[in-house]
Amino acid sequence: MKLLHLIKRYAGPYWPLIVLVVLFQFAQSVLSLLLPTINGDILNDGVLVGNTDVIWRLGGWMLVVSLLQIAANTLAILCGAIIAMRAGRDMRADVFQKASAFSEQDMQRFGSASLITRNTNDVQQVQMLILMSCTMLMSAPMLSIGGIVLAIRADATLSWIVAVAVPVMLIVMALIVSRLVPIFATLQEKVDAINRVMREQLTGIRVVRAFVQEKREKRRFDKANEDLYSAMLRTGNLFVLAFPLIMLIVEVSSVAVIWFGGHLVDSGELEIGTMMIFLQYLMQILMGIMMMTFMTMMIPRAAVGARRISEVIETEASVARGTGSAAPADGTVEFEGVSFSYPGADTPVLEDVTFTAHPGETVAIIGSTGAGKTTLVNLIARQFDVTAGSVRVGGVDVRESDTDQLWANLGLVPQRPYLFSGTVASNLRFGDENATEADLWQALEIAQAKGFVAEKGLDARVAQGGTNFSGGQRQRLSIARALVKRPRVLLFDDSFSALDTSTDARLRAALDAELSDITRIVVAQRVATVQGADRILVIESGRILDQGTHDELLETSETYREIVNSQMSVEA
Ligand code: CTP
Ligand code: MG
Repeated sequence: MKLLHLIKRYAGPYWPLIVLVVLFQFAQSVLSLLLPTINGDILNDGVLVGNTDVIWRLGGWMLVVSLLQIAANTLAILCGAIIAMRAGRDMRADVFQKASAFSEQDMQRFGSASLITRNTNDVQQVQMLILMSCTMLMSAPMLSIGGIVLAIRADATLSWIVAVAVPVMLIVMALIVSRLVPIFATLQEKVDAINRVMREQLTGIRVVRAFVQEKREKRRFDKANEDLYSAMLRTGNLFVLAFPLIMLIVEVSSVAVIWFGGHLVDSGELEIGTMMIFLQYLMQILMGIMMMTFMTMMIPRAAVGARRISEVIETEASVARGTGSAAPADGTVEFEGVSFSYPGADTPVLEDVTFTAHPGETVAIIGSTGAGKTTLVNLIARQFDVTAGSVRVGGVDVRESDTDQLWANLGLVPQRPYLFSGTVASNLRFGDENATEADLWQALEIAQAKGFVAEKGLDARVAQGGTNFSGGQRQRLSIARALVKRPRVLLFDDSFSALDTSTDARLRAALDAELSDITRIVVAQRVATVQGADRILVIESGRILDQGTHDELLETSETYREIVNSQMSVEA
């Protein structure tokens, strides 16, 4: 079972604490079982009347035993809490680490909302179970079984009450648990749903407002919320039912002990102390069963959590890290007969793509949306592995090169630039932690971002995702971030689309002037952007239709001429 496996893996390392917990629980149970006997003996001795010495002595003993029992219990809980918290911390660290290594594909499989729930709420469920186990996994059965044995030993004539009360308690508990389990099992998915809607709503808030869809979104959230609410309510109802039932069983059985025991005492067949002993053991037995039930109730929810955590921990990132040690020799990028289809898709997104980009060259890729441009760029960064053919950077197949080395050589400006919360400087230093301020300004200058950054300063705050910058500013900042890295290959995925034509032109001129020895792969929609490239690849439905310089393509490529004409007429 995943749950056991997970607990073993994360609580296991803290075994010295577990040993302590077991000892403390053992001590606590033994002491609890001892108490009623001392208690009853006082009454049985019948020497109490007027005998202050004995009262003090036995009372003292009871006090000592009680205090020891409380101490053992406290220590067990303390150690348990430490184990549970540490196990939770380690689990979260592992889930985080795994998730960071996930490729886009893996992310899609889980969904970011679910990953967050898994790493918070699910971990918490498992943690709770560990904590509960540490406080009563051992003491609960010891109390009930020890209680039964000792109760029967104290007085066999009343034992039939135990024989009735225990099964009744067990049946009631089993009924409640069997109802709770299915609800608990779905609870985690419902929490997921809430997080998903909330997250989508927050990221898309502007779109939602612009389309006046707030009502619809609210309905969607209300539905998820209502769902969770009704599931929680059902569990709540069962708990509400459970407590009075438990109390009823406890009360009725104590009344039974006193009633029948009272008669026996009356007829001199039973000492009053023995009856008290019996009564207290009965309480302990029932308490033990109750504790075991509550623990059992935690198991299904924790098991669901454990399964969901294990799913993340056991997923091998679909693009494994390169095992080879080869480092790219230079900035040459070669595609040789590359085909690629997304997992589960029938048609390939790229087919038989072959081209080479040498250091210092600019290779531009132009094509309609959905042609496979982003996919092509992602293959260089090894976000995915090719289905056929090979992609080589610096003469080494990307699958065989050391992943860190490969990435150190690449500067990627993604189509949807993402900035992290922090400052402008902290974002730029993603490329190179040790970059000086002068380096940063130089990169900003090339990226044509100097103007607007100078107004706010390098320490200007950046909101999560960079939402407090305009689309074009974000693009330029992410270009600067790639430049700070000083890579051998720069990949621009449609990175100039949000820039106006003159900024675009100045940026390209600056890149040409400063980065003459760097391989540049530029994806673009605008002819003006690709015009000056050493080679332009026209791609359509994943195939390279034509390639050449701007002038050559004007001569040879029908498609390219169409693209040019369409943009001329728009601009005219
Ligand atoms: N695609 C997919 N799964 C993904 C990403 C893309 O199935 N995770 C598909 C898309 O549906 C599309 C094709 O792959 O049909 C090419 O996508 P992409 O390379 O992103 O196209 P681009 O040429 O980059 O399109 P755009 O100009 O719009 O960025
Ligand atoms: Mg794209």
